[in-house]
Formats: sequence, C-alpha cells, structure tokens
Amino acid sequence: MNIESFQSKIHDLFMTLGQLRVLLAVAKHGSVSQAAVELSVTQPAVSAGVAALERELGVALVTRNGRGIRLTPSGEALVRFARQSLALLEQGRDAALAASRPGHGRLRIAAVTTAGEYVVPPILNAFQRRYPDVEIALEVSNRALVLEPLTTREADLAVGGRPPQGGQVQGQPVLRNDLVLIASPSHPLAGRGPVEPTALDVTWLLREPGSGTRATTEEFLAAHGLQPRRILTLGSNGAVKQAAAVGLGVTLISAQAVALEFAAGTLTRLAVPGTPLRRQWFALRLRDGYLPGPARAFLDFTATAAARRAVREALRSPRQAAS
Ligand code: PGA
Repeated sequence: MNIESFQSKIHDLFMTLGQLRVLLAVAKHGSVSQAAVELSVTQPAVSAGVAALERELGVALVTRNGRGIRLTPSGEALVRFARQSLALLEQGRDAALAASRPGHGRLRIAAVTTAGEYVVPPILNAFQRRYPDVEIALEVSNRALVLEPLTTREADLAVGGRPPQGGQVQGQPVLRNDLVLIASPSHPLAGRGPVEPTALDVTWLLREPGSGTRATTEEFLAAHGLQPRRILTLGSNGAVKQAAAVGLGVTLISAQAVALEFAAGTLTRLAVPGTPLRRQWFALRLRDGYLPGPARAFLDFTATAAARRAVREALRSPRQAAS
C-alpha cells in the first residue's frame, strides 16, 4: 500500500492525541493560560490545538466566557470520549510494560470515603509487601463520584458499596461492612440498654449529599418513619465522629470507622433493634473492562485471609493488639 492510500484509509482518524490532551486541559482549567502551564506549552499552541480540532469537526468546541473559556455542548460530548480514549491508551501502555516485567506496573484504585479511609489502606499495605514494585494510586471520593473514574478508565478498580444492578459495573464482595448507631457515652440515649427507634427523634449527624452512608441513613430514617429533631450535615467521617464524641447528636456509621473510638471509649454503640445494618464492601470493575496485571493481582489479593487480617489488625487499638 502506498503512503497516499494509507493516508486516505486513516483519514477518519484526524484527531491527534496531543490535540485531545489540549482539549482536556482546557476543559479542566477553563483557561487557556492554565492549560498551557499544565502541558508546558505556549498559549498559542493550546489555542491552535483546539482550533485544529474545531476545524476538523466543523463545530465549535469552546466559547469565551468573560476571562475564561467554556466548553460548548459539542465540546462536552467530545471530552467524555477523549478522557476514555487517553485513559485506555494509558492502560495499553501499562499492559505492554507489565507484560515485559511481571510484578511491576501501576495499580489505580478509586474508593468511597469510608472504605478509602479504613479498609483499603491496610489491604494496600499488605499487598505492597507482596508486590513491592507495583506503583499505587488511590483516589478517594464519595459514593456518588466513585464510579466515574472507573467508567472513564482512569481507575482500574474501585472499592465501594453494592454496584447498581444491571449496569456496566460488576462487584465482587470483599469484606463485611456493618453500620452501627453511635453517640457519645454521655448522650442521654447511651448506656441504657435497647433504644427503640421511636426514641431516636433527636439530633442526627449526617454526611454530605452523595455519601453512601448518608443514603443508607436516610433509608433507615424513612423505614422507621423517623423525623430527626435536627439534622447537622458534616462533610467527612472525621467531622461526624468528632461531633458525635462531643455530644452533638447520634449517627449511623460503618463500624470500621469507629473501631478505635469504641476501644478508646470516646464513642459508644446504641443498641437499636435492627442494627447493625449488614452491608458489604465490593471490589468494583467494568464488566467489559480490561484488567491490568497489578489490578488482577490486587483483586485476587482482596479475597485472601491476609487481606482480611490486615484490616482487622489495623482496626485494633494498641491495647487490644498488646493483649
Ligand atoms: P461514603 O460511602 O463513604 O461515601 O459514605 C459509603 C458507602 O457507599 O457505603
């Protein structure tokens, strides 16, 4: 095949990876100058990259917006595919490298907040001891956001609650996740035996919207017809725990998130019938997604006794560990 006919065959592949990178940087920063800084190129090079894409497609991808720059609906549509394409190529590069060096490569994980704080780090620690040459990146976000890096292929695996049924994500159970009702030991409902759900018309501490813990709490409240006297929204497990410990209210939270506080006596469990709510942590992956070697090794590792032991040990207080 001569070069002209080859070029005409690939004529449809008019977008270069460099141009797509430029578009992604512009989308991320909403600014040509900041995109240029991120990519270490000049501002005219950024503008030229976007203009070349617009010329090829025959549609506007960005509009000026005061001092910034904004994507048009066409720009937004292209950005979704550009992110996936570049991430898929990165996976391809990783696969090529990993094939030549087993035990090496990158593991990119996303995790929901609670799992990312209390469950994934000890598993990663044990995994890293077994695979010291794997480079690990962990991205933590709440339930509403955690599947995004998976679907854009910017993460190989995610750890979170049950995946939506019938979607493109499938889950493999990793560990139990029991949700308990907790309060300060000095809270009026604490230390007095079973607490009927009807007595829970008190102040409740809730995580931010988008949190899986919050969604479960809202289901619990609705199932018991409960109207909290007051709701305080706090944006992290740490803030919720501190607020509960000083007596601000009660909350439903993963037992793993409060194991150390229970051992230290700064928080206590309320014995509410129907709790703990039994849930599971799942390792989540795209149904039709490619799993690089390190991600496959991590997935297998999550099913081992060593992974479960690592979590158990991390959540034991120093006093328990010594006994
Ligand atoms: P969260 O997620 O940490 O965002 O609340 C927990 C979950 O999905 O169960």
